[in-house]
Amino acid sequence: MRGNSMLEMASKTWIILLATIAVKADPTCVTHRGTDVVCSSDNSDYVLKRGLVSENSKTTGITLRNCRITDVEIESFHQLPALEYLDLSVNKISRLELGVLDGFKKTLFLNLSYNRLTEFPLGLFDQKPNLEVLDLKRNRLENLELGIFDPLLKLRHLDLSSNKIKGRSLSPYIFDQSPQIKYMDFSRNEMSGTPKNMLAAFEAIDFLNLDRCSLKEVPNFATRSNLRTMKHLLLSTNEISKLENPRIFTHLENLEKLNLVANYITEVHEDVFKPLKKVQQIFLSHNKLKNIPETLFQNMRHLNNINLSNNFIEYVPVNAFRGTKLKRLNLSNNRFTYLQDNFNLELRNSGVKLSHLFFQNNPWQCACLNDILVEVKNYGISYNADKYDGRRPVCVTNEFTCKRQANFNEFYSELYDNVI
Ligand SMILES: *[C@@H]1O[C@H](CO)[C@@H](O)[C@H](O)[C@H]1NC(C)=O
Ligand SMILES: *[C@@H]1O[C@H](CO)[C@@H](O)[C@H](O)[C@H]1NC(C)=O
Ligand SMILES: *[C@@H]1O[C@H](CO)[C@@H](O)[C@H](O)[C@H]1NC(C)=O
Repeated sequence: MRGNSMLEMASKTWIILLATIAVKADPTCVTHRGTDVVCSSDNSDYVLKRGLVSENSKTTGITLRNCRITDVEIESFHQLPALEYLDLSVNKISRLELGVLDGFKKTLFLNLSYNRLTEFPLGLFDQKPNLEVLDLKRNRLENLELGIFDPLLKLRHLDLSSNKIKGRSLSPYIFDQSPQIKYMDFSRNEMSGTPKNMLAAFEAIDFLNLDRCSLKEVPNFATRSNLRTMKHLLLSTNEISKLENPRIFTHLENLEKLNLVANYITEVHEDVFKPLKKVQQIFLSHNKLKNIPETLFQNMRHLNNINLSNNFIEYVPVNAFRGTKLKRLNLSNNRFTYLQDNFNLELRNSGVKLSHLFFQNNPWQCACLNDILVEVKNYGISYNADKYDGRRPVCVTNEFTCKRQANFNEFYSELYDNVI
């Protein structure tokens, strides 16, 4: 017995010893197809040194993702003449010394996202004339020094999201040498007050993300004439309250998707979207709209998806949608008690055939709800059928006819709020 437990203890000691060795181990790297180095590490922090991945003329890709790297020594990437792809994401790197990236010039792709970088020394990217993709998401960058991106003449994808950047302290010339950028993400930074010429050199922008940027209005820097190539603009989760200048989107004639979800929009000029000649989707849900101007989306020939859910809309003018290509319309969670008589027939008469119509969670008068249900079933339009399975109250009053008069709205809305 005694001997046995001694043995047991001895083997336990061994296990603990082995575990400690494992804790101190460097990342282990495996080379795939002779060119692609992928390293992984278990549980100890590590300072990247010359020797782990450096000095190899064949290596074209290095992945050091999630390796608990806290610092990168100056010659870590010494002599990697063929390196095209470097992923250093998900580590704890807080600074990169000038010259540390100079051992490789061919690189097209550099991922530094999910680290703790606060700034870059000017010249860090000087030896990166071929870089096309630079991911800096989720660091702690506050300022970007003028000139830092200048050597990156071929940059087309730049992700600066989730940093601590303040647009108002950026130089208007910061992107002057980056005309090829197509994908630009500033989301989750504070971008109000950004210089209006900051993107003036862009010639090929496709996607611009300004979600959660503390914007109080649609910013000038995002709507300039040189941005006319843009297809997708995200302005969601900001503090934009008005779209009253009909010229704000004048130059975005190629835009296909506009996202204004979760702002404070109360007012929309009836012509504000009209310059968006190719727009297919406009998302306005989670705003504070009460009224939809009678001609808001009229004759926008490519528009097929409108989301107006979660607003305070009391009246939905069918005219607003005539002459569009609308397929999906989301009107749920608003404040109307009826839709116009023959809402879908009216739309069809102007060439609009909906495939999806959502209208749940409005203070419906029962007779009006019944009218629209008959219509959507008749035309085979998808709607939230599960909401209307007869298991819960969804509308008010047992009157037989739908009262389509704005002055009754308040009465039925209040009734609905009290009952449901
Ligand atoms: C960079 O790395 C992060 C985390 O590993 C990943 O989610 C992201 O897609 C990568 N960026 C690019 C542009 O591939
Ligand atoms: C708005 O509609 C689009 C497309 O139908 C959908 O992707 C999005 O999730 C909707 N948003 C809300 C808040 O309903
Ligand atoms: C319509 O809006 C509601 C409320 O925001 C949302 O739950 C639903 O997913 C939306 N439906 C579509 C198809 O966009």
